[in-house]
Amino acid sequence: MGPFDPHPNLPIPLPQVPGPKLPPFTLTGHAAIQFVEELGDESSSADSRVWKIRIHGKERYFALKVFKFNSFEYLRDDFASELNRDLATPQLYTDYFDPFSCECRAYGRLKQENREDLAIRAHGYLLLDSGQEAEITQRGSQCELDEDNPWCRDEHNRNIPLRAIVKDLADGYDHFTQSQAPNMWEDLENLHRLGILVHDVRVPNYLGGKLIDFSRAWTTPHPWCRAMCSALVKDTRHSEPERLHNTIIEWGMANGWDWSEVVIPDELRKCASGISQNNRYGTDPRSYDWRKWEKDLAAAEAFQQMELLPVGVRLE
Ligand SMILES: Nc1ncnc2c1ncn2[C@@H]1O[C@H](COP(=O)(O)OP(=O)(O)OP(=O)(O)O)[C@@H](O)[C@H]1O
Ligand SMILES: [Mg+2]
Repeated sequence: MGPFDPHPNLPIPLPQVPGPKLPPFTLTGHAAIQFVEELGDESSSADSRVWKIRIHGKERYFALKVFKFNSFEYLRDDFASELNRDLATPQLYTDYFDPFSCECRAYGRLKQENREDLAIRAHGYLLLDSGQEAEITQRGSQCELDEDNPWCRDEHNRNIPLRAIVKDLADGYDHFTQSQAPNMWEDLENLHRLGILVHDVRVPNYLGGKLIDFSRAWTTPHPWCRAMCSALVKDTRHSEPERLHNTIIEWGMANGWDWSEVVIPDELRKCASGISQNNRYGTDPRSYDWRKWEKDLAAAEAFQQMELLPVGVRLE
């Protein structure tokens, strides 16, 4: 072990693939957590449970998003189904498509680029101990949880603690107001400029006009940049501005906005219709220069060469 290598028992930034990573919130990755109450509409929360918490007895409240596990087959068949080649190992599905990894990578990029203003801020990850896991399993809503296996563990993650991300609390905020709509488009395009495809733009994923949820985000470098047919790339890119446009209309209709006062940016309309001068749909997240961050670029590029299986070979 070299002098700058992390201590073997201390947690490391995750996930361990080239590209951005999220560091632990504390040196040990653990913390004394007071679970105040569960947040959100648990019946629709597929990936996680979110709690209002306090840490180490301090006054300040945070939001803690605690993630369920996903089998590699589920990630491959549901989350990575648009890829035209399989990934080389089950672990790579977890590293690139599991909601916890997706959030770590997107928030890691916002930290790298010093653009944490583009979403509700995340501070780091925590690992829950068995007592904390038992507490939230028992106190949390049972809705959508399998009684025998509430966190969806399988043989690959049986001994892995629950993973969670500490975020700023946006308690009591509305999803967004009409004056925030133009900023939401600006934020979305800025995320694309930083190589982040949100992939889940919809009303519930905004609070106070800011994105709170990156659990489906694909952050460059990512297999979607190299293993998707051009028609699907087109659809995927198109759906970002289209969904934001629909999100604004849907929420505005539900709240009886006076549309003569609502500013929907012209560029958003054009991107949503696929007629923008900027690549038809706006900025292409795949063109982000991720290489500038890699200390060992040759190793990162070699890793990418090994990520995808040859066409026709399938992991079972
Ligand atoms: N930072 C936060 N502050 C306050 N409430 C939050 C915060 N983050 C999440 N929530 C609440 O928890 C809910 C679920 O959060 P999030 O969307 O991140 O999880 P998810 O598992 O991806 O859910 P879904 O599958 O419904 O999108 C949000 O709709 C919101 O009500
Ligand atoms: Mg969500």
